Amino acid sequence: MARLDGKVAIVTGGAQGQGEAIVRAFVAEGARVVIADIAEDAGKTLADDLGEAAYFVSHDVGEESSWTSLTEGLLARWERIDVLANNAGILRFGNIDTAPLSDVEAIWRVNQWGVFLGMRAVVPTMKKQRSGSIINASSIEGLGGMGSVVPYCGSKWAIRGMTKAASHELGRYGIRVNSVHPGMIDTPMTRDVGGQDAMDFGATKIPMRRVGVPDDIAPGYVFLASDESRYVTGAELAIDGGVTATHAFGG
Ligand SMILES: NC(=O)c1ccc[n+]([C@@H]2O[C@H](COP(=O)([O-])OP(=O)(O)OC[C@H]3O[C@@H](n4cnc5c(N)ncnc54)[C@H](O)[C@@H]3O)[C@@H](O)[C@H]2O)c1
Repeated sequence: MARLDGKVAIVTGGAQGQGEAIVRAFVAEGARVVIADIAEDAGKTLADDLGEAAYFVSHDVGEESSWTSLTEGLLARWERIDVLANNAGILRFGNIDTAPLSDVEAIWRVNQWGVFLGMRAVVPTMKKQRSGSIINASSIEGLGGMGSVVPYCGSKWAIRGMTKAASHELGRYGIRVNSVHPGMIDTPMTRDVGGQDAMDFGATKIPMRRVGVPDDIAPGYVFLASDESRYVTGAELAIDGGVTATHAFGG
């Protein structure tokens, strides 16, 4: 028996990067998956590749109406929601005194508001089922801080905090809520900013001396989605090559 047999999952931001790896890992472990993303071409291509086990929905995590149509369509088709991977997120660099406020608002809307709306959309169904696993993508920026990403960092600390509060509120219904904290991962989010130079530089700062890849992250999601983690809630899983394990300079 596969680890996610019979489970129905939503993966936001599932069209590329870590989200794509999570979708593929969930399907490989027997889940049926909704790929929910604003990136239509990539999302449809991935869904086509996965066949009956997945379908794509054009979905903006920051819009409540988008969540309503996503969950209504999913329940009409597969009748349950076992897992929500709130993975979609955006990153924009900018300093406190110069970052465009439109960027700040966009980050908070997608990262924090989107995660809240996602939990709100699935909780009624999970309460009825008396089971569910919500996995929220925070970051190492939700465990520490870094200059020039103050709004992003604030959103990722908010996700970590909402995760813990939600685990307290929802535990009695059999709903678990945990956060994942990736380190520097080679995806379009990071590569588009600094290219290979940023990857090479980043690797020198990481105890394991390499930047992560999406397939380093996906197994953590599989564990938290599966019943193997049945007594794990309110926890934070750092998958970061050790960067948050030390305060030492240099590594
Ligand atoms: N890459 C890293 O180094 C890193 C590190 C720590 C945390 N994270 C977090 O991991 C998650 C995945 O990031 P990634 O590295 O795969 O990034 P990515 O940019 O490669 O992928 C993000 C996906 O989210 C989708 N998305 C963006 N806005 C959306 C919206 N409004 N509604 C629905 N989908 C939307 C994008 O289309 C894309 O498919 C994010 O929450 C990110 O903040 C990334």
